[in-house]
Parts: sequence; structure tokens; C-alpha cells
Amino acid sequence: MYDVEAVRRDFPILSRQVNGKPLVYLDNGASAQKPQAVIDAITNAYSMEYANVHRGLHHLSNLATDRYEAVRSKVAHFLNVSDPEEIVHTSGSTAGINLVSYGWAAPRLQPGDEIVLTVLEHHANIVPWHFLRERQGVVLKWVECDAKGDIDPQAVIDAIGPRTKLVAVTHMSNVTGTVLDVAAICAGARQKGVPVLVDGSQAAVHMPVDVSAIGCDFYTITGHKLYGPSGSGAIFIRRDRMEEMRPFMGGGDMIDTVTRDTVTYAKPPMRFEAGTPGIVPQIGFGAALDYLTALGMENVAAHERRLRDAARAKLGGLNWLNVQGDSDTKGAIFSFTLNGSAHAHDISTILDQRGIAVRAGTHCALPLMQHLGVSATCRASFGLYNTEAEVDTLVSALELCHELFG
Ligand code: ALA
Repeated sequence: MYDVEAVRRDFPILSRQVNGKPLVYLDNGASAQKPQAVIDAITNAYSMEYANVHRGLHHLSNLATDRYEAVRSKVAHFLNVSDPEEIVHTSGSTAGINLVSYGWAAPRLQPGDEIVLTVLEHHANIVPWHFLRERQGVVLKWVECDAKGDIDPQAVIDAIGPRTKLVAVTHMSNVTGTVLDVAAICAGARQKGVPVLVDGSQAAVHMPVDVSAIGCDFYTITGHKLYGPSGSGAIFIRRDRMEEMRPFMGGGDMIDTVTRDTVTYAKPPMRFEAGTPGIVPQIGFGAALDYLTALGMENVAAHERRLRDAARAKLGGLNWLNVQGDSDTKGAIFSFTLNGSAHAHDISTILDQRGIAVRAGTHCALPLMQHLGVSATCRASFGLYNTEAEVDTLVSALELCHELFG
């Protein structure tokens, strides 16, 4: 039995008030709150176990290295990857996708080569590919979603042509919550010999992810959405793809030898981890993964399905509210506009006055906003500590907005 009240007690910030009202935190899509276990891991790392990693032979450096390297195995376990050496530490998904863009794609894509994307992508999975379009004539091919916000996996597979060198797709939209059938996309792409990058920034937060079953070449996650520190994250890169990649960032820790005239590189994954990394953020990220593993991602997913169903029924009953996308696969992320003239920013300000935190704007997803024909939306994105009572608080506050704005 999932005890949401016990879970809430693990998150100190949830007991505070905002604008004189109990905090209702529905901005998890942007960044999630941190459990005490993560805060304690960070405090302990800085108070008792801090030194640089991979460099010293002294006790603290070895200890910090052990703690930091253990996170590679925790990520591998979390994503069901058998070889931790296929995990690269990153500062988040943006860093992971840029690593693939600079390290794998840039050296091999020629003018006229194509990358297939969907209209649901976050800018982090668009702009690194625009760099290749601008700088080396790569063509971006877009797959549209249907009226419910779904992407037909076959449409992605059909978009793969003889010049396609990569498919880069989100596993879950940060705007509509749509979950894509990435395993089907990967199976079809594999038959055509094309690698797939999956942006798991949102999906890994809300459901169990089995990278081995998905069969992708690259899968990226970000720590701050996974209840860990900002500046933490990881990317799975399949061994053969890692061997194909050239280093992206150069510096300490990623070399084998350096002379005045030559350089040779460390073996992957270290080859892709230049400089002093985010040691403590990454250790905190490991604590967050431990926390999620102890809760059980199946249990988290079941709890969030209940929230999704409650929110879908209640928001769907407001005939003056337009929820963008109603995919059968959607998670507990709801982007909406009000009929009439209310701007998303005004709505979020009124919600904020009632202690409710949502995101308003374009959600780093401008191509999707253009596709939906909206200039901005409000987004309520639920997490593992939210309750059905908070759905009701949101609905009451939206009813107030409706009264105010008509
Ligand atoms: N990617 C984050 C969001 O969707 C920032 O809000």
C-alpha cells in the first residue's frame, strides 16, 4: 500500500506555506522537490567525505571516488542496464544530448543527412540538432502528433529514409504527458539500421524504465527531476556507440597520456567525463535513486495513475478549460488554457496566491506550442508526493480564475 502521507513527510519543503497557504507543488515537470535522504547525502558528502575524485591516493579522495562511482551502478540498475560502463555521468539531459550531438552525430553526419524528431520534443532535444542543421546542412524531419497528442510509432518509422542517420524522440512529453511507444520505434529503426536517442527526462520520473527492453542506443535522464540535485544526471550509451564517439569536452580525467604534441584518451565512459564533475550533486542523485528504488517505481507509477485519472476527470469536467492532449497513455501532466482572454501567466499568479505552484509559458517546447496553436499554457505536473486533495485544490483555484476572467 502506497502511503502518500508518509512519503510527504520525507520532503521537508512540503510542510511550508506559500502566501499563507499550504504549498501545493505541481511544478514537478520543471524540477522536483528533494527528500530528506538526498539532503542528508549532500550534507554528509560535504561535511564528512569531500575531496576530488579519481585523483588522490588519500582516504577522502578514495571515499569520494567510491561514492561517486557507485552512482554509475545505481543508474544502471535503475534503467536495467547490465553494464555500468555504459553509463556516462552528466549534469543533466541537456548535457547528455549535446554530448551525443557533438560526440557521435557531428563527426559522421553529412549535408543532406537527416535526423527524425517529433513535434513533442523539448528544446533540449531540438537545439543540439539545429546546430547540426545550421553548421553542416543536416535536415530535421518532424513527425506530427494527432489531436489527442499521440505519436504513431509507425509514423516515426515511416519517416526514416535512406539519408536518416538518427531518430531522437522523447519518451514522455513535458507538455501533454503523452508517453511514446519507444520500444516500437526502436524496433522499427533497428530494422532500418538507424540508431535511436530517447530523451527520458520526464518518463523516468513517472514509471519504471527498462532500457534493455526499449532497445535504444542512447537514453538520457536528469537528476533534478528525479528528486535529486540540479546539475546531476546520466546518459546510457550502448557500448558500440560509445566506441564510435569522439570526445566532446577535453580536460583532466578523460585522457590516457598528454605530451606537447600528442594526446590519447581514457577508455569510455571516462573519455566523456572531462574535468572535475558534479561530485556531490551526483552523490545526491544516487541517494535519490536509492529513495525511488525503495519506494518502487511500479508503486510510484500506480499512485500517479490514480492522480492522473482524478485530474483528468475533474479538469475534463470544466467546459471552459482546454486541456492540451488527452492521450490514453498520458501521465499526470496537464497543460491547459482557459477560454477567453486569461493569459497563462495571470492564471499562474492567481494559483500562486493560493499556494499552488504551476509552470506557465511555452515549456521549452515552442514547436509543440505552434502545432497546438497556443501562445502559452499553464501546466500542472504531478509527482509522487501529490494527493487527490491537491487535485481538488487546483480545481477550486481554477474555478476562481474562471469567475475572475469569465
Ligand atoms: N524541462 C523543464 C520543464 O518542462 C524545465 O519545465
